[in-house]
Amino acid sequence: MEKILFATGNEGKMREIKMILDGLEVISLKEAGIEVDIEENGTTFEENAAIKAQALRPYWDGIILADDSGLEVDYLNKEPGVYSARYMGDAPYEIKNRSIIERLEGVEGADRSARFVCVIAASLPDGQLLTTRGTIEGIIAKEPAGCGGFGYDPIVYVPELGMTTAEISAEQKNAISHRGKALRAMREKLASVLA
Ligand code: IMP
Repeated sequence: MEKILFATGNEGKMREIKMILDGLEVISLKEAGIEVDIEENGTTFEENAAIKAQALRPYWDGIILADDSGLEVDYLNKEPGVYSARYMGDAPYEIKNRSIIERLEGVEGADRSARFVCVIAASLPDGQLLTTRGTIEGIIAKEPAGCGGFGYDPIVYVPELGMTTAEISAEQKNAISHRGKALRAMREKLASVLA
């Protein structure tokens, strides 16, 4: 089978993706020698993932995968959502995380609910578009905790783990994360489409 192109330049993500899609030959934009600037101007995770996958069609004949992910905080009307990477511009995550905690001041218990969302889109050579979605539910912690992971991990407390997603190992996170769930679901969808 032809190699599958994954629309990411992020090496950390790529390692995670290759681990989860073990058995499929997946290559990154860099490995494919493709350099393209894609504007993510969708308003949903599904739209952005599809925009990324479809924008690469002129450069690749085989299957193209792309992802879009972010943090939804229910009390903040699901902000920062698709704007998670761009929230507060270039501010470091210590500042972004502190801002979210401050905006939830006085909000207690289940009202602090939040989730990481990841959508994977697949553009198939025949024009079909497949999408899968994975989530991990948590609540916004009152103080950041843990130094693993990245981004908003220190403020997303997962009750069933009794920890934030910055306090668990990379393997544990892959097993339960939004990205892990969406990627495994895509792997199954592709297996049935390619069978
Ligand atoms: P993307 O690379 O366009 O999907 O941007 C995703 C953004 O959402 C990241 O820059 C982070 O701010 C946030 N995000 C997504 N997944 C995670 C995660 O697993 N932990 C922490 N932050 C995440």
